[in-house]
Amino acid sequence: MRKDFLDFSGKSILISGAGSGIGKATAQYLSFLGAKLLLLDVNESSLKETLSLCNDNCDLLIIDLSDSHGIKNLLTNKLKSFGALDGLVHLAGIPYISPLKTLNLDTVDKVLKINTIAAIELSKIFSKNKMYKIENPSIVLISSVYGFVGSSANVAYAMSKSAIHGITKSLAIELSSKKIRVNCVAPGFIKTKMLENVAGSFDSDYNERLNLLHPLGLGEADDIAYGITYLLSDMSKWVTGTILSVDGGFTSQ
Ligand SMILES: NC(=O)c1ccc[n+]([C@@H]2O[C@H](COP(=O)([O-])OP(=O)(O)OC[C@H]3O[C@@H](n4cnc5c(N)ncnc54)[C@H](O)[C@@H]3O)[C@@H](O)[C@H]2O)c1
Repeated sequence: MRKDFLDFSGKSILISGAGSGIGKATAQYLSFLGAKLLLLDVNESSLKETLSLCNDNCDLLIIDLSDSHGIKNLLTNKLKSFGALDGLVHLAGIPYISPLKTLNLDTVDKVLKINTIAAIELSKIFSKNKMYKIENPSIVLISSVYGFVGSSANVAYAMSKSAIHGITKSLAIELSSKKIRVNCVAPGFIKTKMLENVAGSFDSDYNERLNLLHPLGLGEADDIAYGITYLLSDMSKWVTGTILSVDGGFTSQ
């Protein structure tokens, strides 16, 4: 039995999408628990703001994850100075609301690159020898309730997130030989910039309907940060290939 599961001192974690919303909240919480963080985002100013809220041993890395082929060099070079990682959290993501008849395939491609292909590329780099530490390494990917259920005008985002479930389960098996655990958190709606951005696409009843979709009401970014922290921590050392719904009951209805 142990009481120190939430002590992250000595642990190094890479967080993509750390500039905003759930990524920012996760960075603040893990830093509070003592982790050394490598904060990754495409938005330099918001990333600097997150960095200013974290411990002095944290660092940042600007990468545009829509450039799938550019990730490897930038991250590998950075890890040479930052050191090996205990955990990877892929939170960077973009929404795309569009009915089928106006769906733009270039935008679909961008959504897939950031939400999904980057999860594969980051996991590939993390799982290379000497990039991860051998004591309970953990990858946490992020999907959505729309990895499980459909909604209108959401084909690209839903595709990008349901694919994360397949990636999680396949990598959990493949990387078990290295003792790397791979899990996923599937959030319901959280009050972040992403929600503000898509809310404009809906009618005025939207907020009311959104609340009804969540028996426990809308979530906070911290609710997701806590789920991610569990999957990074030694408390979940026998958990791999799991999709953890943190959705206020959305997918139970
Ligand atoms: N907010 C929600 O309701 C909700 C629900 C379910 C799942 N999610 C998922 O949670 C994750 C975080 O969402 P959020 O609500 O915090 O969003 P957010 O918009 O607040 O933050 C997303 C971050 O990703 C970064 N990003 C976007 N494109 C990038 C790129 N090309 N390269 C690098 N970084 C990039 C942004 O700069 C931003 O800092 C996403 O994967 C999202 O799909 C969110």
